[in-house]
Amino acid sequence: MMRRTILIVGVLGMLAGCQPSHSEWIAIAQNGMVATDSQDASEIGMEVLRSGGNAIDAATAVSFALAVTRPYSTGLGGGGFALYYDAGEKKSYAYDFREVAPAAATAAMFEVARAEGRPGSEPSQRGALAVAVPGVVAGRLAMQERFGTWSRAELIGPAIGLARDGFDVDEDYVRRCRQVVKYYNRNPRMKLTHRYVWQRHLREGKIRKPGSPLVQPQLARLLELIARDGADAFYQGPVADAIVATMQEHGGIITREDLANYRAIQREPIHSTYRGHDLVLMPPPSSGGVCLAEALNILENVDIAGMWRRDRVEARHAIIEALKHAFADRARYLGDTDFGSAPIEQLMSKTYALSLAAEMGPTSSHESDDYGTVQFVEDAGTSHFSIMDRWGNVVASTETINTSFGSLLAVDEWGLILNNEMDDFGAYRDRPNAYGLEHSAGNAVAAGKRPLSSMSPTIVLKDGQAVMALGGAGGPRIISSVLQVFLGLVDFELSLEDAVDLVRVHHQWKPNEVFFDKNPPEKLAEGLRRRGHYLSSQRKTGVVQVVRRSRSQLSGASDPRKGGKPAGY
Ligand code: DON
Repeated sequence: MMRRTILIVGVLGMLAGCQPSHSEWIAIAQNGMVATDSQDASEIGMEVLRSGGNAIDAATAVSFALAVTRPYSTGLGGGGFALYYDAGEKKSYAYDFREVAPAAATAAMFEVARAEGRPGSEPSQRGALAVAVPGVVAGRLAMQERFGTWSRAELIGPAIGLARDGFDVDEDYVRRCRQVVKYYNRNPRMKLTHRYVWQRHLREGKIRKPGSPLVQPQLARLLELIARDGADAFYQGPVADAIVATMQEHGGIITREDLANYRAIQREPIHSTYRGHDLVLMPPPSSGGVCLAEALNILENVDIAGMWRRDRVEARHAIIEALKHAFADRARYLGDTDFGSAPIEQLMSKTYALSLAAEMGPTSSHESDDYGTVQFVEDAGTSHFSIMDRWGNVVASTETINTSFGSLLAVDEWGLILNNEMDDFGAYRDRPNAYGLEHSAGNAVAAGKRPLSSMSPTIVLKDGQAVMALGGAGGPRIISSVLQVFLGLVDFELSLEDAVDLVRVHHQWKPNEVFFDKNPPEKLAEGLRRRGHYLSSQRKTGVVQVVRRSRSQLSGASDPRKGGKPAGY
């Protein structure tokens, strides 16, 4: 009974239990903390914790809730990664439920589609060929079955309620819809071919106002089926039939066998260290762990805390140089290591980092060989959440359908929006992906392969206890955002609020430009220019959710850049 009334209790609990804080996007509590990019999802997760569920139970409830409240970022048509620290076992687990290229996929498939008349990057970014076999349902339920204590019906229940009875959309939802309307208006044919997003979410251009209700009855029915029958309800039977029929109607290649064969993979997490902290990181097919470890290893060789105190430009310069090395190696070496080897150990070694740090000069030392500008697509895909429970168990998980509303293609009768994760492969010989990222042959498309990701769920341990969980959204800016929030907390000794709010720099080696997420102070901009950096005028950001244990208290932050709120008790 208690669990069935979870939503109502949740709201009252928020009022009564969690101490108010000066920022709405910060929460402080004693027992459990959930930080997501959606207030509804955070409250649902917190109520699971408060009612006796563990961090994995809360993660399952949160993930299905996000599928309803952040349908442009994540959902059952997407994929992701999760790290779990089990405090009882003192052991970390990594789950990979990244989407998979269908069996009929080939390295040349997107070049061929272009030769057949689909222009630019469209084949890998919009429509049926862009869709890889989704992994969220398999991944979530695999983790729930292994580590959870509640039934899936109890945990999917709140999401069903949100989809069936509706919830009030927030400003972030409205902002993303506005961006995608512009895309439809530039490509009016898609209003007919990609109807579900156009009609249900964008309301044919008459976009909802913040605070208006959104009801998703088709999605509610899909969630009900999964709650009743588990992952088979998604990967087999009428839902699988409908996915395949959508593919066939729109020229896609996903088959019944591709869906039936999908498996989440339990992998060994990556372990690294940084100034007395143990880092638990996501291995390939995410590049997040390797890139973060490499950048932090480089920065461990400089007095970044002293730089920050003396001269913030110098500190930012060091961060930029470390990112350039990490992203250059990402482009050169990384891909799905089930399909080829990558020198992971070397990239993460302290001696390699020392040699790179030794090259770091007072001015920008490495020109990328072609200086150019890339206009990134509007991207609001991806949703990261961080959870700590009263037993010290921790989850850091990032899910995505890639760019806003994914491929824009949906399985209408199930309200299922399909990802465009195929664009995370190196799809074309002559152009980077939606985030301006270039790749080696290691990330070429191949049947059954998982595209390289920047998603960076991260758990930080100190003295044998999990003290921090963080991660973010924003494509490659996930890596730079997570790096800077972590440095802000560990080296710059900022409050959680300041560490998350801080203006962030991003550099991904190519294009050779520094990106800011908001207008930088002129002194910082000028100082970086003097050190030889090219500054982009594009303002692009990552969105970070953090939970942290310090002294006997838990604190959580949901990045104000997306309008989420954490919830604790
Ligand atoms: O896996 C990746 O790296 C991308 N598909 C993530 C996309 C993303 O974060 C979109 N964000 N706003």
